[in-house]
Amino acid sequence: MSSRPQLYDFHGVAMTHCVTDNWEKVKNFQARPDDILIATYPKAGTTWVSYILDLLYFGHLSPERQTSIPIFERVPFLEIAVSTVAPGAELADRLPTSPRLIKTHLPVQLVPQSFWDQNCRMVYVARNAKDNMVSFYHFDRMNMVQPEPGEWSSYFQRFLDGQMLYGSWYDHVGNWWKKTKTYPKLHYMFYEDIAEDTEREIDKLCSFLGLSPSAEDKKTIVELVHFDNMKNNEMTNCSKLNFLDFKISPFLRKGKVGDWKTHFTVAQNEAFDEDYKSKMKDPTLRFRTEI
Ligand code: PPS
Repeated sequence: MSSRPQLYDFHGVAMTHCVTDNWEKVKNFQARPDDILIATYPKAGTTWVSYILDLLYFGHLSPERQTSIPIFERVPFLEIAVSTVAPGAELADRLPTSPRLIKTHLPVQLVPQSFWDQNCRMVYVARNAKDNMVSFYHFDRMNMVQPEPGEWSSYFQRFLDGQMLYGSWYDHVGNWWKKTKTYPKLHYMFYEDIAEDTEREIDKLCSFLGLSPSAEDKKTIVELVHFDNMKNNEMTNCSKLNFLDFKISPFLRKGKVGDWKTHFTVAQNEAFDEDYKSKMKDPTLRFRTEI
């Protein structure tokens, strides 16, 4: 029998105990005004943008930091509650940096109230649904604290039905997008844009954050956050997370826009596009499935 966690309904969102067991602490988390929340649907580029932000703020700190503190400790995952790592809310609480960079996959309606009360800056990263689904599938294969993915064809249907950890991709990206209309301190980014022109997206991020790195620093950051460099860097490739099985799949797997084409059948693509039209009605939220 599988020991993988099961999905269950948590305030209307499919979740597992691995992200809700510490809920009282998460819900009551005390944000500070300069905290920066990095929010994404899983597999949308969280680690990429976390590392960009970490380098923008702390790239000049001691070289030891760069070689000894993995990204998941520099940027704690707020709601994670698995027995083999420290609870995310506690790690975030103890973060010595200022600002504190904090990662979450929570849908916008479940973000702890204090982040809104403190008027914190937030960076949301979204990735096109097709690539997001493929990346999530391979992640679920290699992550022992994720629900069992099963066969690709049934996974495909579950994604369309919103039966994934953190619920429906469509609701997640759509509700965070709506929030940009009422909450000015939210910067909404797209994975495809970062892949197309990393420096341009760093510039936009810096103007949102009020940072002005030198041209040289920017060049260094663009280089360090390149897929191959992050994949070969033990601090960013998540190889130290003991619930990931790298024999099944790497965490930084392909890092591409358009990899869905190697997974979707023609029939799946047609079914997907039809379903997508019925769910994604807001013409102002547009995704690119190739660049
Ligand atoms: S998680 O577990 O939700 O935090 O995962 P997340 O970091 O959001 O997403 C992992 C996917 O992002 C890709 N990635 C990158 N792509 C391009 N360049 C860089 N530097 C980069 N860093 C991470 C990573 O490879 C995963 O996508 P796939 O398609 O599976 O390769």
